[in-house]
Amino acid sequence: MAAENRLKICLVSSEFAPLAKTGGLADVCSALSAFLHEAGHDVRPLLPLYRRISHSGLKTAPLDSLQNLSMRLGPHSVTYSIDRAQLPDSSLDIYLLRCPALYDRDSIYPAGDDEHYRFILLSRAAIEMCQRTGFAPDIFHAHDWHTALIPLFLKTVYAWDRLFAHTRTVLTIHNLGYQGIYGSGILGDLGLNDGARELHQDDLSAGRINFLKTGLLHADVLTTVSPTYAREIQSDEYGMGLQDLLRARRETVFGILNGVDYGEWDPAHDQLIPHRYSPDNLDGKRKNKLALKTELGLTTEDDAPLIGMVSRLTAQKGIDLIQSVLPEVLRARPLTFAVLGSGEPAFERFFTQLQRAFGGSVCYYNGYSNRLAHWIEAGSDIFLMPSRFEPCGLNQMYSLRYGTVPVVRQTGGLADTVDLYDPGTKAGTGVVFRDYNDAGLRWAVNTALDLFQDKEAWRRIVMNGMAKDFSWARQGAVYVDLFRRLTR
Ligand code: ADP
Ligand code: GLC
Repeated sequence: MAAENRLKICLVSSEFAPLAKTGGLADVCSALSAFLHEAGHDVRPLLPLYRRISHSGLKTAPLDSLQNLSMRLGPHSVTYSIDRAQLPDSSLDIYLLRCPALYDRDSIYPAGDDEHYRFILLSRAAIEMCQRTGFAPDIFHAHDWHTALIPLFLKTVYAWDRLFAHTRTVLTIHNLGYQGIYGSGILGDLGLNDGARELHQDDLSAGRINFLKTGLLHADVLTTVSPTYAREIQSDEYGMGLQDLLRARRETVFGILNGVDYGEWDPAHDQLIPHRYSPDNLDGKRKNKLALKTELGLTTEDDAPLIGMVSRLTAQKGIDLIQSVLPEVLRARPLTFAVLGSGEPAFERFFTQLQRAFGGSVCYYNGYSNRLAHWIEAGSDIFLMPSRFEPCGLNQMYSLRYGTVPVVRQTGGLADTVDLYDPGTKAGTGVVFRDYNDAGLRWAVNTALDLFQDKEAWRRIVMNGMAKDFSWARQGAVYVDLFRRLTR
């Protein structure tokens, strides 16, 4: 690519697949970076060097000019360094922020008293990394609340630096449900001095500092991960208190659907599943189902439909509807149910009890397993995602590619990626219900189970889904267009 067309992007996030992942944020930051790199842009992703990364065997190299630096965070001074690494099978350099005092922990989000320091440091270190290496990004691409202070820092603490004279900031909202809200006692830790007047003053008077809201105030452009969610978050129902602000900025809020990394998620070459398959021959899919049932100790008839689910177990994901609807469906119809996920203890307890009550028909794997996530996508007939809200959702898109029919609620990215099957036109890729209530989910699950009995219709739905293309080649190009418009 000609040098003048090459965008310079500093992408900063708290997660990056496969190194540090709790959800889709990791997949998206990683796949978008890979897309931008392969398209010839100079993208520099920065994330913390968490313990799991330092223990993963990843080869890292210290960057000479970025060792043993210090940063003042209120009363504390922390020492940090930045190392470089490459993921296996990739030529993209990623940057790792090493500060054992803040990141050498078992969990990515340990939620301790010093949580805000961890993400203030990440945001400021990203800017200082650019300064010290003379890298003038066209775009700072921040993701979620963890890095949402970058636009404000650029306008205040680093406003003096002409290196950033042409830099524009983009904040991508992956989930409005997490905002990073702290007491105003942390004000001194931000190091803003006079810049504190740029914070949301009503919040400050009320004793709060909201990281995400600060980003919504100061980023040049806001994006979120599906067109429907971009509209929804401007409403009282979905705005989580930020709707007025988002409405006021509606001209600069864009919904860009996430892509799928088909290099990772395609049954035709997925090495994490026992049998590979494609639309031409679904034999492997049937074998994956049988193997999965054996693996999970599921003893139902093989022709009973297998419903799969892979999810963080939080209220967002519609688990309360599953709690009220699934037991009765399991009692009424032949059915197998495989669930992978962890999260809120009450939901974990529910699935543990469900497995106990329906031994042989239900398996709950409490934990995190990428291999099992792939296997459930491949071995299930139906994938369940009845989310209360869903900014985009990746699993339903994976399901489509794996010939697993998604049952979803019509919200956010689920509404943008799954269409209700219409027996008249034979178009559609799944079952979609609208209202968030028991009747909605009950209807959807029963509709899917009825359709499953109609082999002809089922095959059609499966094929419609497998033909869908949500690749990053498309979605990444939308980001590039936006970045170009911004920098023009
Ligand atoms: P969210 O980001 O809200 O969790 P997404 O559907 O966008 O939802 O992405 C979830 C990602 O995390 C998917 O790649 C999914 O496979 C993965 N995932 C979620 N829970 C688990 C788990 N327990 N084990 C393995 N992967 C998981
Ligand atoms: C969030 C959302 C999910 C989205 C993911 C990646 O965690 O909950 O819907 O797919 O981020 O953007």
